[in-house]
Amino acid sequence: MVSSMEWKRYYSERAKALKASEIRELLKMTQKPEIISFGGGLPSPDSYAVDQVKECIDYVMETKAKKALQYGTTEGYSRLREFLADYMKKKGYNAKPDDILVTAGSQQGLDLVSKVFIDKDDTVITESPSYLGGLSAFRAYLAKIETIPLQDDGMNLDILEERLKTGKKPKFIYVVSTFQNPAGICMSTEKRKKIVEISLDYDVPIIEDNPYSELAFSGEPPKPILAYSKGNVLYLGTFSKTFSPGIRVAWVCGPTEIVRKLTIAKQSTDLCSNVLSQRTVYEYCHRGYLEENLKKLRKMYKRKRDIMLKAMEDYFPEGVKWTKPEGGLFLWVTLPEYIDTKEMFEDAIKNNVAYVVGTAFAGGKNTMRLNFSYPSDEDIVEGIKRLAEVIKSRIK
Ligand SMILES: Cc1ncc(COP(=O)(O)O)c(C=O)c1O
Repeated sequence: MVSSMEWKRYYSERAKALKASEIRELLKMTQKPEIISFGGGLPSPDSYAVDQVKECIDYVMETKAKKALQYGTTEGYSRLREFLADYMKKKGYNAKPDDILVTAGSQQGLDLVSKVFIDKDDTVITESPSYLGGLSAFRAYLAKIETIPLQDDGMNLDILEERLKTGKKPKFIYVVSTFQNPAGICMSTEKRKKIVEISLDYDVPIIEDNPYSELAFSGEPPKPILAYSKGNVLYLGTFSKTFSPGIRVAWVCGPTEIVRKLTIAKQSTDLCSNVLSQRTVYEYCHRGYLEENLKKLRKMYKRKRDIMLKAMEDYFPEGVKWTKPEGGLFLWVTLPEYIDTKEMFEDAIKNNVAYVVGTAFAGGKNTMRLNFSYPSDEDIVEGIKRLAEVIKSRIK
């Protein structure tokens, strides 16, 4: 008889490869109240339409409580799927409700995509930099990540094509198409059309992850890559940045066949997404509150972006570059090559300011991501001042 079980001896190969994220450890240091953190990715605490959400929850509980508290179908609440199919039609993709799977956040979508497509040592192509949670999901299924640099108008497609001509065929190309996390970059329409052609020419599907397109600061965002697809693109959308991340409602949209496969994969994960959440989200959208509140969010985030850009202009030293996003929650800073943002992190914490190091996103050592949605307007200016001091102390 054993006196105590040594659990790790029983870990799967996959579990052995799972490591606590170094970045999350770094971010733990940013929890102190005196620190102004540009590190998180949270919506503004002022972004939520609390009264309207309460009205929707009350309505669901008063009129549909027994259904809302029951198990639902794995595919998702039918009215929400109809709404989302219509929404995707307006975005240029002729979706039917059967082409929609509701998920518990897009993060679950990324996990299900990985579960369905990735075998050990498969290659996945991503942008550099790319979304940390996407990279973690692919790595958790033992994929090898290969990155293609981002340009001001999206992934460098010449390099992508060169890569696809040679080397091991990847399982898919992962693209955060619009006001990207982490860099804030938006892929041009020309490149959206071109990447669809490349995907077809080289027979490699595209996973398009698009949480930020509704947060465009002026005008309409470009149509998703999915709108130009010929059965070769799978799309992930979410209510996390437009409504609430805590409500955990998102969706996958694409060819019926693959949506069905993902649904089977989801069955063994959670049986169904939260029914009360889905019904609340449906009511919120159906009553026009999503659109109404988005107008407020776009204005608020544009203001915060402007405040951050102005503070950077005012305080950052020469030799520092940054993106100027037209939407979303993030911008990307590139320091002179000799500055390592991971080494600089401790100085930043000492000066009570935090960011996420670029290497977390498969970006360069001299880069960092800054979030402008969460800190208050005053903290953005003060935090940038503090960060500028830290950078200046390292500039040669
Ligand atoms: C690019 C991208 N994809 C997916 C997610 C996950 O979003 P959620 O699971 O809240 O829908 C995020 C969240 O920050 C993101 O930035």
